[in-house]
Amino acid sequence: MKTLRIEKTKKFNVEIDDIASDKSISHRCAIFSLLSDKISKIRNYLEAEDTLNTLKITELLGAKVEKKDGTIFITPPLKINEPKEVLDCGNSGTAMRLFMGFLAGVEGFFVLSGDKYLNSRPMKRVGEPLKKIGAKIDGVKNGNFAPISIRGEKLRTFDYESKISSAQVKSALILAALNVDGDSFFYEPELSRDHSENMLKTMGADISVENNKIKIKKSKNALKPLDIYVPNDPSSAFFFAVAAAITPNSKVILKNLLLNKTRVEAYKILAKMGTKIEFIEHSNAYESVGDIVVEYAPLKAVEVTENISWLIDELPALSIAFANANGVSRVRGAKELRVKESDRISTVVENLKLCGIKTHEVEDGYDVVGSDMKEAIIDSFGDHRIAMSFAIAGLKCGMQVNDFECINTSFPNFINILKRITKVE
Ligand code: S3P
Repeated sequence: MKTLRIEKTKKFNVEIDDIASDKSISHRCAIFSLLSDKISKIRNYLEAEDTLNTLKITELLGAKVEKKDGTIFITPPLKINEPKEVLDCGNSGTAMRLFMGFLAGVEGFFVLSGDKYLNSRPMKRVGEPLKKIGAKIDGVKNGNFAPISIRGEKLRTFDYESKISSAQVKSALILAALNVDGDSFFYEPELSRDHSENMLKTMGADISVENNKIKIKKSKNALKPLDIYVPNDPSSAFFFAVAAAITPNSKVILKNLLLNKTRVEAYKILAKMGTKIEFIEHSNAYESVGDIVVEYAPLKAVEVTENISWLIDELPALSIAFANANGVSRVRGAKELRVKESDRISTVVENLKLCGIKTHEVEDGYDVVGSDMKEAIIDSFGDHRIAMSFAIAGLKCGMQVNDFECINTSFPNFINILKRITKVE
């Protein structure tokens, strides 16, 4: 198991243009290419474990994947292939849940599985609504855990009101609805990231959205292929935003990021805490894209109780900012954190305690009392975002992070970039 030692740093001023490509958009590029009958062209696809697994699955389902001069070309099959292999989603909940929705209405038999972390995350949130419209889905513990088996069936239309705001649940149901004759409706309590709706509409899908209610209708013809440049991932870039926010006199320019409003909320929370943040949009094709400039200023505590689904991936890194702020920060309404790559409420709280920070844990959140962080040896619990968040904390006080290789699921270039601002072994 790989261990990373991070040394305390002094002020820095850097421009970073090689942040990992967006993970959510990359997964969707691979999966959505199967909805067209023409070749999709994808530049800057994320070459990390999670999204390479998704690409491998599209190949096993019959697509031809070629890479030329950094561009990925995906030729979809005429008919989805019934693979003899288990479809390995690795660590990725997005891959597993979106493929469940896509495959539920496709003729054939499919088995989805993943690593020990993914196979202990709940899949009923997608399996149950799909079963209600005729899907034949099963798995461990009454279908709640992978390995998940799917026998593709003809599905019925639906009007589903989701209790949680989850882009994975929403996307799975949209993918299922695109295979059903007639109108289907999906409602979520608050808008979750909306890349599926945006991308599928651009591909010509019949999708309309009003007051968090989405209407989906099967298209008569195959969708248009994708021709897309995947922007850099604002959730991956956020680790370096926090680095600048906690290091006096530091500044970072994060280049070519996806600026979709459901993905940059954490930067707005940092701004509320006192950090200087500037958004500079420079294009808008499938999504808004631009740079974010982050400059140090003393941090004050904050309460986070709204738009949790827009912060779900950044709360571990934000917690490092909370620990460095003046006062008590509070997160509530964030129960979903407990079913991520790790139980992120307990992994954040346990690791902050090891760094000498006072915390208080409740079922749907936690409090963090800002004070001086101490060097510690912490465990990533196999969760890439926990590993990278505490590596960034190390810039302030030094840190050893065990089980660090999990960062390869989303951001293999993280250590190279970190080396530009501190010593790392
Ligand atoms: C994702 C949705 C989020 C997020 C995950 C990626 C996506 O999960 O945490 O990292 O690409 O749809 P939920 O939709 O389950 O909240």
